[in-house]
Amino acid sequence: MATVSVRSVLRSGGGGRPNKCMGRYRPSQAGFNPSFESHPVARGRVSASPSRFCPLMQVNIAVGAVRTMSLSRNEKGDMAVELFANDAHRCIAFPDMVRGDDGVQANQFLVMDGSESALIDPGGALLYTPLSLALSGYLKLRDLTYICASHQDPDVIGSVDRWLMYTPARVVCSRLWGRFIPHSVPHYQKNTSHDRYILIDDAGGLIALGRSHLRAVPAHFLHSVGNLQFYDPVSRILFSGDLGASVGVMEYKPVADFDAHVPKMLSFHRRYMASNRACRWWARRARQLDIAMIAPQHGIPMVGADVGRFIDWIEDLECGVDLLPVDEVVDLLPAEAAGFN
Ligand SMILES: [Fe+2]
Ligand SMILES: [Fe+2]
Repeated sequence: MATVSVRSVLRSGGGGRPNKCMGRYRPSQAGFNPSFESHPVARGRVSASPSRFCPLMQVNIAVGAVRTMSLSRNEKGDMAVELFANDAHRCIAFPDMVRGDDGVQANQFLVMDGSESALIDPGGALLYTPLSLALSGYLKLRDLTYICASHQDPDVIGSVDRWLMYTPARVVCSRLWGRFIPHSVPHYQKNTSHDRYILIDDAGGLIALGRSHLRAVPAHFLHSVGNLQFYDPVSRILFSGDLGASVGVMEYKPVADFDAHVPKMLSFHRRYMASNRACRWWARRARQLDIAMIAPQHGIPMVGADVGRFIDWIEDLECGVDLLPVDEVVDLLPAEAAGFN
């Protein structure tokens, strides 16, 4: 898998207008919590009342290019949120496709420019059918151009075999995952070879999309070793993968009170993000982008001044290996004590 079909590969820390940071948030320092209870399973999904596919409400948010979020449902009650639209360009979020309580709540995103389109973090087999049906309100599957994967997790790209089978889309992912993601594809499935993959180097790159492009922004170790985010320069939305994820948030609309929102992000980031060093490495790059909205794969987006607040917060956060105690006395339980011979 050596194919790279990006218009150009950027030096890390590209151009653009830096964000103005609006104050710094310093979290309280708590001990290492190894439990997974903070996994962002949003039990309180937005309830879906059946209706025809029509606009139900609009949420006005005061941020430059991203003017309104308009929410629609199809006849099955699936929700779609239009994050941005102009004559040639649209960004749609699908925040409530996960059914049941077993799968983590996850957002999928569609970016369209002219006749080309990119589906970002489409999820696993759990989501393929409802998401493909929801997409049919916007495009024909045979016209989908890209599947963009922020990293390799099942909730991100577990259904890659179906997207390769039922669409002509090419998979955009980190070069580090180019030989692992194909393990989700049966060997007998046709038309799945390396020419269906666009492998992005560590420095990131530009992916042509209609008359515009998406920028693959490196966010390595946040949380995956080869981790990409996708920045849309038209809407100025950063699709941030797991970074910025929040837990237990109900209605899909922008964060209203950043300080009140921090506890919904804290435990997840402390456990899943690799280290403060990785956070600081990312923050320097994020400030090079002109970001109107950070749209994570789980939970709700952050807009306007909260973009800068989030960058400041994550830059200061101790997480992952920072929190591993290195001087504790280790006394592993003998197997015999647990009843094993
Ligand atoms: Fe993940
Ligand atoms: Fe995730």
